[in-house]
Amino acid sequence: MRYRRSWPSRSRAAPALAAAAVATAVCASGCGAGARPGPTATGTAQARPPATATAGARAPAPDCLTAKCVALTFDDGPTQYTAALLGTLEREHAVATFFDIGPHALRYRQDVLRAYRDGDEIGDHTVHHPRLTRLPPARVGFEIDTAARQIASVTGHPPTVFRPPFGAVDTAVLAAAWRAGLPAVKWNVDPRDWRHHDPRLIERRVLGAVRPGAIVDLHDRYATTPPAVPHIIAALKARGYTLVTVGQLFAATGGMAPGALYFHGP
Ligand code: NI
Repeated sequence: MRYRRSWPSRSRAAPALAAAAVATAVCASGCGAGARPGPTATGTAQARPPATATAGARAPAPDCLTAKCVALTFDDGPTQYTAALLGTLEREHAVATFFDIGPHALRYRQDVLRAYRDGDEIGDHTVHHPRLTRLPPARVGFEIDTAARQIASVTGHPPTVFRPPFGAVDTAVLAAAWRAGLPAVKWNVDPRDWRHHDPRLIERRVLGAVRPGAIVDLHDRYATTPPAVPHIIAALKARGYTLVTVGQLFAATGGMAPGALYFHGP
């Protein structure tokens, strides 16, 4: 209950405003804070650290309207493979976004804290990783809110983004994300590392599909993904890309709106 009190006005106002949130929900890019529904955003903003507070350990975020930015994202962790991945990111002075499963965050607390302190963004990937579109609305809210609370119990801060398992979203899922104060994030580069457990293939698929503003969907639940990441980062840097978090990707276009759905950045 302590956690929910940080967003009181949003919780009370949610039923009346959820429809408005969903109506403006699909933003391929450039859907900024201006689309945020209503005055309830104030409570959320006060409850969270400023976006720049997590970026202290590494270089300041670039303007992704002019720089070539790419956001690597890692789902389903943390796992026993996450620490090696964090080592890679630290060596490369790069940041990423981790969409953590709540109970995994509780189990691998040190990895979540390490990522958070490094300036990586921590996102919400539910408690049980269900296909949310098949659940009743109350259960959808439970999955998102409980994982958010579990993550916040580790880092001291609520997650700032949400990724629906399997990318499955509908208006009820986006309304639940809006009530939780979270933008929903899909991707536009999918190397299918969950199917192809081959680091070289993962690397080739990412590098073959990446464009400025890309959001890349990877997973730190498979042993074969972290070994691909040093090569991916080196190649991206050689092409002039800057690695950013999802939040940083949208900073230059006014930020992200709770309940809106994002596939890629500017
Ligand atoms: Ni997942």
